Amino acid sequence: MQKGMTITQFLIEKQRDFTSATGDFTALLNGVVVACKRIAGAVNKAGLIGVLGAEDSENVQGEVQKKLDVISNRYMIESLEWGGYLAGMASEEEETCYQIPDQYKKGRYLILFDPLDGSSNLDANISTGTIFSILKAPEGKPNIEDADFLQPGTEQVCAGYCMYGPATVMVLTTGQGVNAFTLDRDVGEFYLTEENIRIPEDTREFAINASNSRFWEPPVKRYIDECLAGTEGPRGENFNMRWVASMVAEIHRILSRGGIFMYPRDTKDPSKPGRLRLMYEANPMSMIIEQAGGASTTGRGRIMEVQPEGLHQRVPVILGSKNEVDRVTSYHNE
Ligand code: F6P
Repeated sequence: MQKGMTITQFLIEKQRDFTSATGDFTALLNGVVVACKRIAGAVNKAGLIGVLGAEDSENVQGEVQKKLDVISNRYMIESLEWGGYLAGMASEEEETCYQIPDQYKKGRYLILFDPLDGSSNLDANISTGTIFSILKAPEGKPNIEDADFLQPGTEQVCAGYCMYGPATVMVLTTGQGVNAFTLDRDVGEFYLTEENIRIPEDTREFAINASNSRFWEPPVKRYIDECLAGTEGPRGENFNMRWVASMVAEIHRILSRGGIFMYPRDTKDPSKPGRLRLMYEANPMSMIIEQAGGASTTGRGRIMEVQPEGLHQRVPVILGSKNEVDRVTSYHNE
């Protein structure tokens, strides 16, 4: 790994591999980087400048919006709308897609994002993150609509997240492996800190919200019961459990040491097929996990092959170390 490589240098060097590249995609990612630096600053100073806590509003999913959800959404839009590389945006915080204002040029890409995932953790000073997914826009359409975003995860040209933790870390894939960049706050730049991340195929660590266990379906219950039985059970090994309740933090831990993360389908609220959102949580995280050698499924099929039906659609999520994910899938198939 080249020492001192900034994310800008990395993106420009990658762009040179594509002779037809116009620079639009590099500029788009640069816009995301700028937004994430601003969000990192706001998250960092939130207690000092009085922006912790909730707004009086709810988002389209009926969840109470935190002040920082609203601020982060604004930072993403402000950093990205003017650049001329986007045909439109979709956000967890916006009911329908965001049209690029008429005064700006429109471009070839679409971006979907969750501006501040895990924001219920903010008041407790626990890690949160921005998750994003980039798609190609349909050609020759003056105005995009929600339906244009409803492409399966396999169509993503880039997926990433920026984690606001003890360090601010940007993790990116464009379909050629996964790389991580750490923000040096003194310089104001992200530097390449991990190249071609690989997830161990085996793990003895699981992450699931066990308070929902009475609502789980039999394959998930079986898998967790077997893990909990430890050396006395059919697995013959002890497992460890983690639950941060912040998807970005869970995925980052899995990238760094393996593990399986599950927010499966359950019977708690039959109107919801899962908790996490397909378009700006499950799909980008699945692309990252698969690019790092892991696997990602609803239990019944690959997440990235789910045909989306709505911008805010929910989906069951089981992802992480390949052999454990395959095991849970086989329990669903039985
Ligand atoms: O979708 C938001 C989110 O905060 C995820 O980041 C996280 O994995 C999950 O919800 C936590 O859910 P729960 O509150 O049920 O633990």
